[in-house]
Amino acid sequence: MARILVAVMALGVMVTLGVVSAQDDGASGDETAMPPYTRTGADTCLKCHDETSEFPVLSIFRTPHATVGDEKTPFAGLQCEACHGPGGEHGKRVRFGQERPPIPAFGDNSIWSTDRENEICLDCHRGSERMHWEASTHRRYDLGCADCHEVHDTHDPVTVTAEQTQVCLDCHVEQRSAVNQASSHPIRAGKMDCSACHQPHGALTEAMLSKPTVNETCFGCHAEKRGPVLWEHAPVTEDCTLCHRPHGSNHPALLTKRPPLLCQECHSRAGHPSIGRTGADLPSGRASGFLLTGSCTNCHSQVHGSNHPSGSNLSR
Ligand code: HEC
Ligand code: HEC
Ligand code: HEC
Ligand code: HEC
Ligand code: HEC
Ligand code: HEC
Ligand code: HEC
Ligand code: HEC
Ligand code: HEC
Ligand code: HEC
Repeated sequence: MARILVAVMALGVMVTLGVVSAQDDGASGDETAMPPYTRTGADTCLKCHDETSEFPVLSIFRTPHATVGDEKTPFAGLQCEACHGPGGEHGKRVRFGQERPPIPAFGDNSIWSTDRENEICLDCHRGSERMHWEASTHRRYDLGCADCHEVHDTHDPVTVTAEQTQVCLDCHVEQRSAVNQASSHPIRAGKMDCSACHQPHGALTEAMLSKPTVNETCFGCHAEKRGPVLWEHAPVTEDCTLCHRPHGSNHPALLTKRPPLLCQECHSRAGHPSIGRTGADLPSGRASGFLLTGSCTNCHSQVHGSNHPSGSNLSR
């Protein structure tokens, strides 16, 4: 810890000049008068926020935000105040019984609006990845960057595949139960995360999918389903979710229903009846092969389309 503190101090001294000369108010604000910045940046903050703090303040020096020599990081500029805003007033000594002027904490009690806090992060992180943040569902529901990201932590769980899912599922209870169903993508096992299909920062697509359509999203990993095939099955070309639930299902292969019910959502029962019959009630007296096989896919095995010259009925 001592070593880190020394590094911090050195850094503080290095950039003190920059801190003092920075006169811009950080963000366009709805708040009125801006308090001043501290004169010595992090050095001031660390006088009170040290290793005895309950909140892990210091671990931020082991994150990419404190990479020494990267002039784009907060610590090359206003340091703590690059995110928390001017702390000149907050960092002063206060008399006994007097209240310490607040400083934005990115939490429920923060003195800034969520949008304003997000703007601080976006000033450095707009990029292509967060181009659609303003229009995103998460932004519309007032999520902040800090609802998912833990910037003070040496590792930010939401950026780690095996841990991201927990962050998302804390809020998304419907998907939590889905991924625990019998058939699901290997999400539970920690081998796949939500951002394999979604762009949590927003996208101009249905359900913030990371590719333009549902099918393009699926083809990213199931390329063999893209075709082209000689004999297409119309719903497959249209939308995989006509038959599959992406998050999980109690039917095999993530299906919305089991065949024959699945197939009969669209195909008339008239052609091949699928109610189990003994045969006695059939004119021929023989049980129907269409029924006793139990599933349409026993014969129509190529539900995703066929490349066989005579595969028009998707059976080979
Ligand atoms: C003189 C001591 C002192 C200094 C210097 C100081 N703080 Fe604080 N800070 C506190 C105390 C005490 C609290 C606990 C909350 C309170 O009493 O308002 C606090 C709370 C905070 C909080 C949480 C606010 C909340 O609403 O939960 C943040 C964030 C914070 N400080 C950041 C900073 C930053 C950034 C700096 C440097 C610019 C800084 N502090 C400098 C004493 C200090
Ligand atoms: C990259 C932006 C950023 C920088 C730089 C930064 N913080 Fe923070 N800080 C946050 C965010 C975001 C939170 C909210 C908690 C979280 O999600 O990690 C926070 C939380 C805190 C809290 C706890 C607030 C609470 O809810 O109790 C304190 C105290 C604090 N920061 C102090 C500091 C100090 C001191 C520094 C400089 C050494 C610093 N921060 C640098 C973004 C930053
Ligand atoms: C002064 C500019 C600046 C500010 C303000 C800032 N960042 Fe960063 N951030 C950086 C730089 C530079 C990096 C390291 C290089 C990179 O990955 O782009 C970084 C890295 C990150 C990373 C990737 C970390 C990793 O493990 O790879 C995340 C996530 C992040 N920032 C989130 C945030 C959030 C959330 C906020 C607001 C609370 C914020 N940043 C505020 C400049 C900034
Ligand atoms: C709903 C959760 C969520 C919210 C809210 C969120 N992020 Fe992220 N962020 C993620 C996830 C998940 C990743 C990892 C992405 C991946 O694996 O492709 C990530 C990655 C990042 C990264 C590092 C990788 C990159 O894209 O360069 C940065 C920087 C970042 N987010 C910044 C932000 C900022 C700024 C905000 C607020 C405007 C924000 N995030 C809000 C979930 C979120
Ligand atoms: C703090 C709570 C919270 C967290 C954490 C969170 N979300 Fe959300 N998310 C919401 C809310 C609220 C909505 C809007 C209501 C809804 O659709 O449930 C939403 C909506 C969505 C939508 C639907 C978007 C649309 O346009 O229909 C997707 C997809 C999504 N979130 C993915 C994620 C992913 C992926 C993560 C993790 C990286 C995540 N969320 C983390 C709260 C959260
Ligand atoms: C295999 C790709 C894939 C993965 C992985 C995935 N999703 Fe989705 N998600 C989709 C598709 C496709 C849709 C839109 C169509 C649908 O729901 O049928 C969707 C829709 C959503 C919606 C909007 C639901 C609604 O009813 O509008 C939310 C919220 C969501 N996903 C959250 C998550 C979360 C949280 C995770 C991680 C546990 C996750 N997704 C993982 C593909 C995926
Ligand atoms: C990031 C890669 C990825 C994406 C994107 C993806 N999948 Fe998967 N999918 C997998 C993996 C990995 C498996 C598991 C394969 C295994 O267990 O052998 C799988 C398995 C499946 C299965 C078979 C499940 C079973 O129990 O047999 C179906 C059906 C499926 N995916 C449909 C979809 C659909 C529909 C989409 C688009 C919404 C999609 N996948 C997007 C990687 C992906
Ligand atoms: C008409 C319904 C239907 C549609 C639409 C559909 N599937 Fe399937 N899919 C099935 C059925 C039924 C099974 C189970 C196959 C079996 O029992 O042999 C299956 C199985 C799968 C499997 C696991 C077995 C395998 O063949 O690899 C994957 C992966 C899969 N589908 C991906 C997709 C993708 C990607 C799309 C969209 C391009 C899609 N499916 C569209 C009905 C459909
Ligand atoms: C979402 C609706 C939908 C579902 C579900 C569906 N289909 Fe289809 N299917 C179609 C459409 C539309 C066509 C094209 C009909 C046409 O061209 O006349 C088609 C064509 C077919 C054909 C070729 C018909 C021909 O004229 O040669 C077969 C065989 C078939 N489906 C079997 C199945 C089976 C087996 C399932 C269940 C695994 C299934 N379908 C599920 C909509 C669906
Ligand atoms: C025992 C094998 C078998 C089973 C089981 C079976 N089919 Fe067929 N199906 C066929 C054959 C063979 C044809 C081609 C008939 C023809 O060309 O006259 C066909 C044709 C079709 C067609 C094309 C339109 C038509 O009527 O000619 C559709 C749609 C179809 N089947 C759907 C289904 C559905 C839905 C199920 C499950 C309820 C199912 N099939 C079960 C063998 C089967």
